[in-house]
Amino acid sequence: MATVIGIAGSLRAGSLNSALLGAASEVAPPGLTIEVASIRDIPLYDGDVEREAYPPAVAALKERVAAADGLLVASPEYNNSIPGVLKNTIDWMSRPPADIARVFGDLPVGIIGASGAMGGTRLGQVGWLPVFRVLGTSFFSGKAFYLANGGQAIQDGRLVDEKSREVLRGYMAAFADFVARGRKRGAR
Ligand code: FNR
Repeated sequence: MATVIGIAGSLRAGSLNSALLGAASEVAPPGLTIEVASIRDIPLYDGDVEREAYPPAVAALKERVAAADGLLVASPEYNNSIPGVLKNTIDWMSRPPADIARVFGDLPVGIIGASGAMGGTRLGQVGWLPVFRVLGTSFFSGKAFYLANGGQAIQDGRLVDEKSREVLRGYMAAFADFVARGRKRGAR
């Protein structure tokens, strides 16, 4: 059984991306568990706070990611790029730099996203690439999942569009295979 930490890059209750993460968990193949983690308690990054009192919420999330078999991110696209609240979380978890290899080294990472507009987070997903590259993760590029016009496909917090669910199922099957290949523990 592989465990993947799932993080949605939006704080709002009616988030399309939180709903998408829930759907990803539902259609994931047996053998892959998505543990959804909230970023609500992550403070804004501040180097002084880091030096004086490393935030417990950051430390806890970081250790969950370090212990996981993979990371699945459901990210909105903001202004053709990545959302600040999630970038802030990743930035915190990359501190101190001495921990980066232990937390992110060779970690299988998948990115999916839902947008209220037609682009379906394509640009936002591209925006994440340099971030996960510099952290030394093992980025999953075998398949892609973008949800455009998410306000129609997602109703009452549920991905109801059957075609999108099937595409997501295919993504999750391939991502699960990728995760199952494992994190090369020696790299950490
Ligand atoms: C957006 N939205 C948006 N959508 C898009 O496809 N491309 C974009 O560049 C942007 N830019 C953007 C900027 C800001 C500041 C906000 C708040 C929104 C719309 C976005 O897709 C929509 O609000 C989604 O519903 C956000 O995801 P959650 O919160 O539903 O998960």
